[in-house]
Amino acid sequence: MIIEYPSPASDDSLLLEIKKAIPEARFLSEVKRPEKDELILGYVRQVLSLWHYKSKDKPIAVDFVGGKAGHRRKFGGGKGQDIAKAVGLNKGARPHVLDGTGGLGRDAFVLATLGCTVTIIERSPIIAALLSDGLKRAMEGDIEIAEIAARMTLIRADSRITMQKMVEDEQQFDVVYLDPMFPHRDKSALVKKEMRIFQELLSGDPDANELLEPALQLAKNRVAIKRPKLAPDLAEKEPTYRLEGKACRYDIHALKAFD
Ligand SMILES: C[S@@+](CC[C@H](N)C(=O)[O-])C[C@H]1O[C@@H](n2cnc3c(N)ncnc32)[C@H](O)[C@@H]1O
Repeated sequence: MIIEYPSPASDDSLLLEIKKAIPEARFLSEVKRPEKDELILGYVRQVLSLWHYKSKDKPIAVDFVGGKAGHRRKFGGGKGQDIAKAVGLNKGARPHVLDGTGGLGRDAFVLATLGCTVTIIERSPIIAALLSDGLKRAMEGDIEIAEIAARMTLIRADSRITMQKMVEDEQQFDVVYLDPMFPHRDKSALVKKEMRIFQELLSGDPDANELLEPALQLAKNRVAIKRPKLAPDLAEKEPTYRLEGKACRYDIHALKAFD
C-alpha cells in the first residue's frame, strides 16, 4: 500500500492517520518505483481514490453526487426498495439507523436519501478515509445532497467493540443494519474489480458472526442484515423473517413494532 503524495494540503492529516493505522503503508515520495499492481491511495483530481499501480481500471472512490448514487437517488424506487422495507420505512417509520459495516457508504446513502439519520461505523482506515472524503465532497455540493450527507455521521472503529460500548452507555438505535462481506458469486467486471481490492485490503470479514449479538442488544426495533441469496444466516441465528430480493436477501430480526 502506497500513499500518494503530495495531497491537497488540507488533507495531509488524513493520510498521516492512515499511515499510523497501517505502519507498512509508504508514501510515494519514499518509494523509488512502486511494484506493478501495488495498491495506491491518493488523489485523482482532488478525489481520494484507490487503485492498482499501472492498472487501467477506474480508481475506487466514493461519489454521492454523480454516477450510480446520483442515478439511484433520482430513480431508485424510493420506499418501495427492499432496503427501505428492511429498515421499516414502509411502516411509516423514519428510523435512526446504525450501519455497523459502512463500506463505501452506498446503503447508508440510500437510507439517508429516504430520510433516515444514519450513524456509520467502518473499521478499515482506508475505506473510512474514502467514505469520509466522499461525505466531505457531498457536503460541499448542491444543497439537496448536502442535506442528505448531513444526516450521515461516520465513526472509524470496530463495530463489535463500539456497539458493546454503546450498549453499556445505554444508547439505542431504532435499527441496526449489517452488511458484512461474504464471498461473492456475482461475476460482473465491476464487482470483480471492487471485490478484488476489498478482499486484498480486508481479507473478508471472518469475524462477522460476532456483530449480531451486540446489534440485537443495541437495536430498539430491529436488526436488518443484508446477505447474498445463498449465504447462511449470520451467527447461524434464524431471523424473524426474510425479504428476498433479486440480487440479495434481507434477514430481519424483529424486536419491537415501530411507534
Ligand atoms: C460488504 S462491505 C459493506 C458495503 C456497504 N453496505 C455499502 O453499501 O457500501 C463490508 C464492510 O464492513 C466493514 N466491517 C466488517 N466488519 C466490521 C466491524 N466489525 N466493524 C466495522 N466495520 C466492519 C468492512 O471493513 C467492509 O468495509
